[in-house]
Amino acid sequence: MPGQTDPSTPTPAEIWAAGDYADVCERMIPGLGARLVELAGVRAGEAVLDVAAGTGNAALPAARRGAAVTALDITPALLEAGAERAAATGLELSWVHGDARALPFATASFDRVLSCVGVQFCADRAAAAAELLRVCRPGGRIALIAWTPEGFIGQILAAVSRARGAAAPSPLEWGRESVVEELFGDAAEVSTSRAQVELAAESAAAWVDYMAAAYGPLLIARLALRERGAWEPLREQLCEIAARNDGGGEGAFAASAEYLCALIEP
Ligand SMILES: C[S@@+](CC[C@H](N)C(=O)[O-])C[C@H]1O[C@@H](n2cnc3c(N)ncnc32)[C@H](O)[C@@H]1O
Repeated sequence: MPGQTDPSTPTPAEIWAAGDYADVCERMIPGLGARLVELAGVRAGEAVLDVAAGTGNAALPAARRGAAVTALDITPALLEAGAERAAATGLELSWVHGDARALPFATASFDRVLSCVGVQFCADRAAAAAELLRVCRPGGRIALIAWTPEGFIGQILAAVSRARGAAAPSPLEWGRESVVEELFGDAAEVSTSRAQVELAAESAAAWVDYMAAAYGPLLIARLALRERGAWEPLREQLCEIAARNDGGGEGAFAASAEYLCALIEP
């Protein structure tokens, strides 16, 4: 069951440990990590780093290909859940607690550096981008997936940020081609494309209520806004956004959530 947490200025690790991100990942985006591994062209024997790996959505499929995988994340509880998933399938990976802004690895130590809707949630964009470049060897490849500002998840996160009056740099900036080019273009070849993943639930409202119980950033927002009576108006707004994005026809809810794929070759 999704957990409860103190709504007062939580740390990133507290945000992502709130609720049940492992369940969100399995229900909503189970194939997205494998898609990123495919895009990065991960091969057996390569040294692969998955940054902001969560429970290993990209790290596990990379390890399944025979790569030597390190999964790094700032949230210990997610690393533990990932290590359990790996053990259950007999995969060996290295699980490292750390911050994308200061990666605890030597320069040029990885052939492939991945991040699946992960590093976009790091608070310092420039520092994280510099670290991804530093640890990737010349001739290697950085592959990123990020929610776009215009897509369904982008619309949801933007509405939550507005309701909270958030001043922090938006994670959605990583979903703009121009920003990725600015961050990496001086040091690497950058290519981007957009794609979509289908998110499903019984209804638009059921999707919002599930996410508000299980997805850390939304759960934390709900707890904070509820205290000042501001959750219900936001919930209504999120239900409207979900209904607008519902392409499922009659019956169940199904929305296409757009993401940006970026390939960066230093
Ligand atoms: C939406 S989850 C994505 C997890 C995983 N990559 C996936 O595809 O399911 C975002 C992740 O970013 C991690 N994170 C946020 N800020 C971070 C930071 N500064 N350094 C490392 N990880 C961070 C969170 O702990 C969380 O696991």
